[in-house]
Amino acid sequence: MNATDATARLDDAATTAAADVARAASLDELTEIERRYVGKKRSVASEVKDAIKSLASEERPVVGKALTVFQSRVEEIVAERRAALQAADRERSLARDRLDLTVGGHGRRRGHLHLVTQVQRELEDVFVGLGFQVAEGPEVETDFYNFEALNMPPAHPARSMWDTLYVKLGRPEQVMLRTHTSPVQIRVMQSRTPPIYTVMPGRCYRKETLDARHSPVFHQIEGLVVDKGITFGDLAGTIEAFTHAYFGPDKESRLRPSYFPFTEPSAEFEVTCVFCDGAGCGVCSRTGWIELGGCGMVDPNVFEAVGIDPEEYSGFAFGFGLDRMAMDRFDVDHIKTFFEDDVRVLEQF
Ligand code: FA5
Repeated sequence: MNATDATARLDDAATTAAADVARAASLDELTEIERRYVGKKRSVASEVKDAIKSLASEERPVVGKALTVFQSRVEEIVAERRAALQAADRERSLARDRLDLTVGGHGRRRGHLHLVTQVQRELEDVFVGLGFQVAEGPEVETDFYNFEALNMPPAHPARSMWDTLYVKLGRPEQVMLRTHTSPVQIRVMQSRTPPIYTVMPGRCYRKETLDARHSPVFHQIEGLVVDKGITFGDLAGTIEAFTHAYFGPDKESRLRPSYFPFTEPSAEFEVTCVFCDGAGCGVCSRTGWIELGGCGMVDPNVFEAVGIDPEEYSGFAFGFGLDRMAMDRFDVDHIKTFFEDDVRVLEQF
C-alpha cells in the first residue's frame, strides 16, 4: 500500500464508519464496529499503521497525520453514538420500572362496625332523639350493684335466674361478670340527681348454654327514667315510640305481665315474630311473639338503696337484648352468627 492508497483507504473508511456507527443498534454492536475501524489488531487503523512502516520517510508524516485525524473522527462519532444508545437504554429501563400511580393497587378495604354495634349506635340515636343521655358502667361488677341494690338481697331466689362467672377478688362470690346492664341504673342514680333520662348499653355475661337465641355473652341496652309524676303510660309510650323508630311503624309490640325484683309492676316487652309473622314457629315457641326485654316501674326499694325519695319521684326502667334486636331486624336465625366472625356474613351488613 503506497501513501495515496493509504489515505484513500482512510477516506473511504471514514465514510463507511459514519454509516455503520449511525446504524449500530446496540452497545455491543457499536463496540464491534469501533474495533473494526480503530482497534489495535485487524482494523483499518492497524492496517494503515503497518503500511506506514514501508513508506518513504517523507510520506510517513502525511499518512500518519491522516491516520490520527481518521482515528479521532471515528472515536468522536462512536462516543456520540454510545452516549445516545446508553440514554435510550436508561429510558427503556425507566419506562419498564415506572409506577403508574393512577392504576390503583390491591389496597386495604375499609372495614365497618359489627352489626350489633351498629344496632347499639342506632338505638342510642333513637333515645337521644327522645331526650335521653347515654351512660356506661363496668362489665365486672360487685354483688351490691348486680343484685343487692336491685332489691335482691343474698339468697333471694331471683338470683338463680342470673348465674354467672365470679372473679377471684375479695370475699368469695362478691365480684362477678355482670349478668345485665341494670347495675348501671344504680351507678347513674348514685351520681346524678333526678330528673334522669338515660340509656346504658353494654355487654353482659351469664352461665348459659348456647342455643339459637341465648349466648353466654350478649348485649343489652338499659333505660332509666326518674322524674316527678312518671307513670306506666310513659313507659308504654316510650317503648312504642322506640319500636316504631327501630322496627318501622307497622311492627306490633306488646307488654306482657312479668316479674323482676327491681320493678313493680313488671312486664316483658315482645314484638311480632319476624320469622313467622306472628303465625307461630320454632323460634318464637309457637307463640307468634318474640321477647326482647323486660321493663317496669322502678321499685321503691331500689330508690331507697340509692337515697332517692320514692314519695317524691317515680320512674321506669327497661333492659332489651341488643343481639336479639339485630337478629329480628336482619333475619339472623342463630345468635352465634354474631361471634363466629365469618367475614362473608359480616360483610352483608
Ligand atoms: C334482665 O336482664 C333485666 N335486667 C331487664 C330489666 C331491666 C327488667 C330493667 C326491668 C327493668 P332478662 O333476663 O329477661 O332481664 O333479659 C333481658 C333481655 O336480654 C332478654 O329479653 C333478651 O333479649 C336478652 N337476653 C337475656 N339473656 C340473654 C342471652 N343469654 N343471650 C342473648 N340475649 C339475652
